[in-house]
Amino acid sequence: MRHLISPLDFTVEELTELLDLANDIERNPEKYAHKCEGKQLATLFYEPSTRTRLSFESAMNRLGGKVIGFATADSSSAAKGESVSDTIRIVSCYADICAMRHPKEGAATVAALKSKIPVINAGDGGHQHPTQTLTDLLTIRSLKGRLDHITIGLCGDLKFGRTVHSLINALVRYEDVKFVLISPPELRVPSYIREEVLNGFDFQEVTDLEDVMPQLDILYMTRVQKERFFNEDDYIRMKDCYILDKAKMKLAKEDMLVLHPLPRVNEISVEVDDDPRAAYFKQVQYGVYVRMALILKLLELA
Ligand code: CP
Repeated sequence: MRHLISPLDFTVEELTELLDLANDIERNPEKYAHKCEGKQLATLFYEPSTRTRLSFESAMNRLGGKVIGFATADSSSAAKGESVSDTIRIVSCYADICAMRHPKEGAATVAALKSKIPVINAGDGGHQHPTQTLTDLLTIRSLKGRLDHITIGLCGDLKFGRTVHSLINALVRYEDVKFVLISPPELRVPSYIREEVLNGFDFQEVTDLEDVMPQLDILYMTRVQKERFFNEDDYIRMKDCYILDKAKMKLAKEDMLVLHPLPRVNEISVEVDDDPRAAYFKQVQYGVYVRMALILKLLELA
């Protein structure tokens, strides 16, 4: 039995197969409409979510399976003090696979240790968000045609943004990927990413977005993660540190893609939404196909 806790749980070859499967699902959804009949997905969400939870539920429904779960910690027995370890032992009796989001780093790993069903990490604190990474990889590969030979700018809250940590972990495995890390000094990527993951790879850390716009093939914008700040004043000071608008888009390549895991707050002006390079709503659609592919792979139905 396999889990997905980190993007590194799959080899590059396995990722390629998974993305190929997702593209086939996109082209031929009817082929997959009954693959999960008789199977149940549990969505265990201890933290708020729109896209991740609903795209998992949509994915399982489109595969002909059923969904159970909870959307908030306080609507589960976590509110009475039940541990993640006990909860997953219970859920293993009800479902065939589960997706878990939790505010604590490592929660999905703890669950996987006790689980009798595949556990998918749907975000653990400020640590990792591997299914967002699968979504990002599928979006980039589908719209750019490749995952190698790219310059990607990651902009905003690189300290707490778990989607950024997972995406960097995944992209260092492809040839000639250059990273431009754009953040205020207080929101730089954690030192373990800089020193262990990016060590030996081509990366630069900058504070100015305009300066680097012309060199980017992809701009990955992120929200300042209010829920991870200890101090409200720090959040208020940094929340609007980068706002992508039409004027900044004029500095970019004609085929640069703008991605964002969403939700956005102010960091992409709505005037950018109509720009053909704005791919963040297409990205959401790819998230359904790739989660369908992931469910099939982990249930060994692909
Ligand atoms: N991208 C993402 O994780 O969105 P949600 O928080 O809405 O799930």
